[in-house]
Amino acid sequence: MEEVQLADIRRIVRSLPSEISGGQRQRAAIALALAPSPRLLIADEPTSSADAQIQKQLIELMRETAKARGVAVLFISHDVAAVRKIAGRILVMRDGGIVESGDTEAVINRPQHEYTRLLIKSVRQLDRALKRERPAAGIQQPPGNEPRIFELTDVAFAYRKKDVLGNINLAVDWGESLGIVGESGSGKSTLLFLLLRLAKARRGSVSFAGKSLAGMDRNAVRDFRMRVQPVFQDPFLSLDPSQKVAGIIGEPLVSLGLVRNRDEKDARIRRVLCRVGLSEDALPRHPAEFSGGQRQRIALARALVTDPEALIADEAVSALDVITKIEILNLLRELKKTGNFTLIFVSHDLPAVAYIAERIVVLDRGEIIEDAPAYRLLRAPVHPRTRLLVESGFTPDG
Ligand SMILES: Nc1ncnc2c1ncn2[C@@H]1O[C@H](COP(=O)(O)OP(=O)(O)OP(=O)(O)O)[C@@H](O)[C@H]1O
Ligand SMILES: [Mg+2]
Repeated sequence: MEEVQLADIRRIVRSLPSEISGGQRQRAAIALALAPSPRLLIADEPTSSADAQIQKQLIELMRETAKARGVAVLFISHDVAAVRKIAGRILVMRDGGIVESGDTEAVINRPQHEYTRLLIKSVRQLDRALKRERPAAGIQQPPGNEPRIFELTDVAFAYRKKDVLGNINLAVDWGESLGIVGESGSGKSTLLFLLLRLAKARRGSVSFAGKSLAGMDRNAVRDFRMRVQPVFQDPFLSLDPSQKVAGIIGEPLVSLGLVRNRDEKDARIRRVLCRVGLSEDALPRHPAEFSGGQRQRIALARALVTDPEALIADEAVSALDVITKIEILNLLRELKKTGNFTLIFVSHDLPAVAYIAERIVVLDRGEIIEDAPAYRLLRAPVHPRTRLLVESGFTPDG
């Protein structure tokens, strides 16, 4: 476990998988795979939920272990950057077939197949966002004295005895796109739980539109659930497999009592399907019949069906291949254009955050270490740990 950089091992070995962060779980899984000294390591998306620094360490670890022990590595990933760091040879698959294969650098620099070209183009498109020199267009100015959409004052949070967040002061403006980044275990998901009122701050206050989340009565909570919606990382786990798409998307309307009859419900479901670019034949089908990107559209439709004013997304595109990722990110950008829509976007995927966020907040061991306009933070990070984070971002040309 030391080899896979799991700090705090004594606590982690005694924890349930649900009590450690996504990235910590992934490293524990890699430790398990390496334990019996295998000849071949087959790794299926092993680094996809790790932040850039951990990803770099894991890849180095796998590469070094492979060399030292003569282990072959079969590395399966939608992350071209990660593949590039570990593989000498690359196979590009699509629809169950191999469309291109060859030396990694050759494939990345001179892709032959149309699909590989699109793939590399998408990677570069995201990468360009990292190098943005000006503020993103269309930033909305905070309205006068109105309360902000979210305000956190001196917030602290702990799981049992473990302090996870401290000294959090953060105000989010209406209509803003805020990115939250930070290494695995820094407390990003926990911060979102507080914003979503799924966990309660130990100290300090969290307010929505000027009202404390802690002091809300039932009606206020219902109103809050309608106006603020979450989207989670894994569209394979977050959609109930036994339900049909119509039921999944309609569920918030029913549970919050937002529609009076079936016709009203159907009309709202149809409207939201169109917004996320799905057709009506999706409605009678089950989530299992859809691809990852389509499922994430379904998850988005479910989140948008209540016409929320804010979307809080936790690693919402991390499980997607880069082409689908760009599609979903573009969809989010479109939504932003349709009104005064606030987006809080947590991800360890810096290019994705750069693509979508106007402002970026960096969490480090439970504290905010930097909070700045995205273009500024990406170009000239101030805090040394932000610098590290930005430097480990992928550059296809570098
Ligand atoms: N239910 C829990 N009980 C105890 N500790 C927890 C629990 N959930 C998370 N933690 C711990 O709290 C810290 C922050 O976890 P969190 O999930 O917020 O991190 P994260 O920044 O989202 O990480 P990742 O990028 O890996 O998803 C981690 O050290 C984690 O082990
Ligand atoms: Mg997380």
